[in-house]
Amino acid sequence: MAYKRSDTVAPDEYNKIWFNCWSENRTKWDAGDISPALRELIEEKQWELPKGRGIVPGCGRGYDAMYLASPSLHMVGADISPIAVDTANKLRDVTSIPSSLVEFKVIDFFNFEIAEKFQVAYDYTFFCALHPSMRASWGTRYGEIMAPGSHLIVLMFPLWKAEQDRDIGPPFLVSKDDYHKVLDDNFALIHIDPKCKTHSSRAGQEIITVWRRK
Ligand SMILES: C[S@@+](CC[C@H](N)C(=O)[O-])C[C@H]1O[C@@H](n2cnc3c(N)ncnc32)[C@H](O)[C@@H]1O
Repeated sequence: MAYKRSDTVAPDEYNKIWFNCWSENRTKWDAGDISPALRELIEEKQWELPKGRGIVPGCGRGYDAMYLASPSLHMVGADISPIAVDTANKLRDVTSIPSSLVEFKVIDFFNFEIAEKFQVAYDYTFFCALHPSMRASWGTRYGEIMAPGSHLIVLMFPLWKAEQDRDIGPPFLVSKDDYHKVLDDNFALIHIDPKCKTHSSRAGQEIITVWRRK
């Protein structure tokens, strides 16, 4: 189901998109691997992440959460869909990554209890998955769940869409300004790489950034 930017949406109604996609096995957003830009940031640019707890909201099958997990960074892959979470848990089990390093949980990003704030978050194909009317809440929510000094890695996508698709989604077209508008109150942009590596089908549509919680 496609929405227009101008539509008024109730989040509960909008969320049905995701339950339906997962139950009907329509996950064509899934690139089947870790984001090249994230791998490049960590392995080639040697980006040093804070230690502690990390989260990937809207994690889908969980490749990026599994990639970021280490003994010094316990990751939570959060998805609203129980099918996504079940699939990610099974994938983790076959890749033999211990559940002590990464766990996948059914979590609504906008509504879960924050036992402890996070030191790291990774956002990819999640901001664009939300209706634009939910973006301000997305920024506020990251402000709530992230610890001071924490790093929020945002892989901006899609920065380009064909003319006829620009007002419909998900995914909804994004711009750098869209992120600044909702993050600047609580976060400072500390890294931006407009030439980051991308999945081949997404060339020219992605920019990786890191934001530090003030
Ligand atoms: C476009 S998919 C991207 C999945 C994954 N990041 C990837 O790149 O493969 C968006 C994901 O966000 C999940 N999602 C949507 N709304 C959510 C919410 N409020 N809280 C947590 N997950 C949500 C959906 O179930 C879906 O798996």
